[in-house]
Amino acid sequence: MAVDRPTRRRFTSLALAAAFAAACGGSAPPEAPPTPEPPPAPATLLLGEYASLTGSEATFGQSTHNGAVLAIEERNAAGGVLGKQVELRSYDDRGDTSEAGSAVNRLATVDQVVAMLGGNGSSISLAGGRVAQQLGVPMVTPSSTNAAVTQIGDQVFRVCFVDTYQGYVAARFATDHLKGDLVATLYDQGQAYSKGLAEEFEAQFTRLGGKVGTSQSYTGGDADFSAQLNNIKAAQPDVIFVPGYYTDVANIAMQARKIGITAPLLGGDGWDSARLAAVAGEAVEGSYFISHYTADDPRPEVQAFVTKYQAKFGAPPDALAALGYDAARLTLDAIGRTPTGARTEIASALAATKDFAGVTGNISMDAARNASKSAVIVQIKEGKPTYVIDISPPEVAALEGAAAPAGATPAEAAPAAAPAAAPAHP
Ligand code: PHE
Repeated sequence: MAVDRPTRRRFTSLALAAAFAAACGGSAPPEAPPTPEPPPAPATLLLGEYASLTGSEATFGQSTHNGAVLAIEERNAAGGVLGKQVELRSYDDRGDTSEAGSAVNRLATVDQVVAMLGGNGSSISLAGGRVAQQLGVPMVTPSSTNAAVTQIGDQVFRVCFVDTYQGYVAARFATDHLKGDLVATLYDQGQAYSKGLAEEFEAQFTRLGGKVGTSQSYTGGDADFSAQLNNIKAAQPDVIFVPGYYTDVANIAMQARKIGITAPLLGGDGWDSARLAAVAGEAVEGSYFISHYTADDPRPEVQAFVTKYQAKFGAPPDALAALGYDAARLTLDAIGRTPTGARTEIASALAATKDFAGVTGNISMDAARNASKSAVIVQIKEGKPTYVIDISPPEVAALEGAAAPAGATPAEAAPAAAPAAAPAHP
């Protein structure tokens, strides 16, 4: 859906006025004072966005969209970019990969955006990213963490951490903090994010000396998880890792508690939605998940953002709102560093981004167009994600190397840079 088109309407009325003036021009008396030139149409810069605004991941799109809108509004109030006001052209991919592909195509070819934000889930960004790469339009995903997303090519960037890292953080937390020796995983086999993160977690947890009792899968939208949950119950795990999206996780948590599973549930960033606790209530109370940010982080830039967002949208910003805000601000910053705002210049400027102060942390693009950032672990307390601990990144390259050698002892495989969890906010 196109969110708004004020510029187009304005062009139309100016064009009509010009046509009318031209039609009347010939008969105007020569002594008539010259008609004042109409003010030039405000030059706008069109930024694209595709987001999951409806469907089972609807809060992902709504939050990132709100964050982007806030960032653009602020930048426009401060004079815009390259002397132009920024307009956002936004489409709903409905959480559907083929919708994402056509939205990106439309943004690139019909709307002719200079760059775009999107998508939310990794499978969506894999579909949209391939089109963006092919058409040569820079794309910045706020939230897609699967490693393969930026591997598509030099047009695809992200402002969030990568799942090689997130899997490590989850494994570390399950080992050090939850004291888990035996885990079970339950993932969505149809989502690149969920499957990839489960694999990453299992590899890292095993490397840290733990054992994976059982690994179960489902398909997003399934109603009945009893077969998988009964297998998990029989394995008697200390911790259950459920790297899915919030709608399925709510059902999984409720059904797990109902059959008497009491082990702590640990999730990935896909749990981040107010809908999770609203739907699952007590079933997720006390559970943990990995996030990009918390609204209770005392850093002044975080608190300023939380206050502005709350005032504008009437709800506290979740991590996706913060990532949408950071993605938009970082993209506008990059555009502002180009000579003319051409797509190729924007891709180079994005790649050159260093030490951008985001709400979700400091963002520098590495050679693979990824941001190396710390992760926060939160616990759901009275329905709200509450800060527990930060884990900051060792070199992602070292981590990737560490996951590889089969048969390596944990000591050999562990990168020396791997940090212990630090119990303090940055
Ligand atoms: N990381 C998830 C994915 O790649 C998307 C997500 C990010 C969801 C942050 C919620 C919060 O699919």
